[in-house]
Amino acid sequence: MKGIAEWLASIGLGEYAQRFAENAIDLSVVRDLTEQDLKDLGVLLGHRRKILRALLELEGAAPAPTGTAAEPVLRDKAERRHLTVMICDLVGSTALSGRLDPEDMRAVIDAYHAACARITLTYDGFLAEFRGDGILAYFGYPLAHEDDAERTVRAGLDIIAAVARLETRAAEPLAVRIGIATGVVVIGDLSREGALREHAVVGETPNLAARVQALAEPGTIVVAASTRRLLGDLFRLRELGRHEVKGIAEPIAAWAVEGVSDSESRFEAVHVAGVTDLIGREHEIDFLLERKRLAWKGEGQVVLISGEPGIGKSRLAAALVERIVGEAHTRLRYQCSPYHTNSTLRPFIAQLERAAEFKADDTSEQRLDKLEALLAISGSPFEPVAPLFAALLSIPFGERYPPLALSPTQQCRRTLTALLDQFEGLARKQPILLSFEDAQWADTTSLELLDLTIERIRQLPVLAVFTFRPEFEPAWVGLPNVGTLTLGRLDRNDVESMVARVTGGRVLPAEVMKQIVAKTDGNPLFVEELTKTVLEAGILVEEANGYRLDGPLPPLAIPATLQDSLMARLDRLAPVREIGQIAAAIGREFSYSLLRVSVGCDEPALKNALAQLEQAELVFRRGEPPEAVYSFKHALVRDVAYESLLKSRRQQLHSQIARALEESFADIVASQPEIVARHFTQAGLVESAINTGLRLAISHSAAQRMLLSVIWNRG
Ligand SMILES: Nc1ncnc2c1ncn2[C@@H]1O[C@H](COP(=O)(O)OP(=O)(O)O)[C@@H](O)[C@H]1O
Ligand SMILES: [Mg+2]
Repeated sequence: MKGIAEWLASIGLGEYAQRFAENAIDLSVVRDLTEQDLKDLGVLLGHRRKILRALLELEGAAPAPTGTAAEPVLRDKAERRHLTVMICDLVGSTALSGRLDPEDMRAVIDAYHAACARITLTYDGFLAEFRGDGILAYFGYPLAHEDDAERTVRAGLDIIAAVARLETRAAEPLAVRIGIATGVVVIGDLSREGALREHAVVGETPNLAARVQALAEPGTIVVAASTRRLLGDLFRLRELGRHEVKGIAEPIAAWAVEGVSDSESRFEAVHVAGVTDLIGREHEIDFLLERKRLAWKGEGQVVLISGEPGIGKSRLAAALVERIVGEAHTRLRYQCSPYHTNSTLRPFIAQLERAAEFKADDTSEQRLDKLEALLAISGSPFEPVAPLFAALLSIPFGERYPPLALSPTQQCRRTLTALLDQFEGLARKQPILLSFEDAQWADTTSLELLDLTIERIRQLPVLAVFTFRPEFEPAWVGLPNVGTLTLGRLDRNDVESMVARVTGGRVLPAEVMKQIVAKTDGNPLFVEELTKTVLEAGILVEEANGYRLDGPLPPLAIPATLQDSLMARLDRLAPVREIGQIAAAIGREFSYSLLRVSVGCDEPALKNALAQLEQAELVFRRGEPPEAVYSFKHALVRDVAYESLLKSRRQQLHSQIARALEESFADIVASQPEIVARHFTQAGLVESAINTGLRLAISHSAAQRMLLSVIWNRG
């Protein structure tokens, strides 16, 4: 072992290397770290567990420090667990080591191990062992998930892909063979080294995994019947028949995994957003599915979902998406934001930009190419409408199209018509599921477009789902194809199931559960956050099947409001909290690039901070930095982070952000001048805000857009 960075990397936690180095923690002191120390360093709960476990291992390996009596190493009690076991072996490694210089061979093995470790961790598995060129990993330990078998196969597929991509001095690409089996095992002391550890898992499952592994072709996975049963139709599987194997009396059945089936996007939808399966809301889902059935017969439907923040409107809309993922349809997603209530058609502009896949450094020509390709999908000729769309998206089009030469009112009308026609073109190809979220923040023109859309879809296969808070009173209630769902609070049973999701099935002490139920009063967002707060508070001791209180429950340990609960969680992330606050000053959604220019800290530190916020599930990410766009889990999470800033600091941040926008984001300044103006105003720099406006007025397209805004929003 070279140093602390390597050690952290070896347990898949390389992201903390810098933090450890900054705090002068090296291998000589790492063993003295307590849980509290790790917490103070800002290490997340799950990672603290991993580090403490790995420390036990280090302890076992090293001689006891001189001067202290060698303490008996802590022993985990043996547990019976339902595990999915993965065994992965590098193909032809003996031949390879004959051909490679030992040092190069070492590098190959290290890179392979690192990839396996990283991927196993990604799926929340436990890398029990490196055995030369093999690895042994458990899924379902120490944390069980309802989809551990699926996670294991996914991890296996990722490992196969990662290993094939490894660049080594070996002439041909590397390959692995993977075997997977599921069953009940008894887990002993996983903290021990070597021979002791061999006995750590008792049961036939690891043996079975090894046997099916031997049946796998290079670059493939073979699963045993026990795993196969849990996989449903998530993967394409090929039956391999029954095989006699050593050490098992009966011939065993085996299946080769040929790839992911079409349900792929379901997993994506569930896991990318970090959402769990829907709890309760059966009636609401049935209602939506019924409306969908009508809609897709050609009788377009609208469902209005209303409810207080955090009650689960977006989650319900997402659940509908998951339910119909196997049916051919087009998805259109529109999201309103509180900062764009006066920005004409902002949700529609954002949707077009996303669908066209604009990149920050695209030239206007590239954007126009992408825009044309997008418009062509609906099947109608794009030439007549391309300039309208280009103007809507603030893309200068020079000589490429004839000038528009329309009065602002005419241009507005034609743009709305073009948007509707485009929409109808898509609906004629296949059914559409449209979601329009947080309509309480929609601008007047967007609402007008929605009016027209509702009229237009009566004869089209379209299901439109609108979500909004109770203060919004839509004019559409009572129309023949419009249904309403008002979401109420979850009942006690559902709350308890939600808590169990967050704790990974581990039971909380009754007293704690009682308080969570009482305080959250059935608001799912609060339930999730409060449970995480309690888990992270250090008042509970983890045991085999549950948690017990580490002493009497401190009176203020369980916050009474969502705000306090979120604040407690942010506080525990102290070292990265500030990044979260700066991001909050930008808004619920923020791009990596703008945050980077606004914070002025170095990239590794920023990436690390964002990774921690992401792991705490306070923010979600789309794409990879520098193109990545993050959003706070919920508008309320952003609000709490923002409100925790002192007023003076807020002003300073807004001024930093406004200047960053002016200096480095000409496109945003041009297309969303109101955003720059908002930051200047909140920075108390009203004069700068006006100057921005004046300077912009000189630029043709911005001036035109501002004019349009004024006219369109007149009422
Ligand atoms: N029925 C449910 N089952 C599981 N999780 C839920 C449910 N309802 C809400 N949640 C979770 O609670 C949080 C808040 O829900 P969200 O849909 O964002 O609220 P809203 O859109 O109404 O403000 C999310 O993390 C969501 O995944
Ligand atoms: Mg929502």
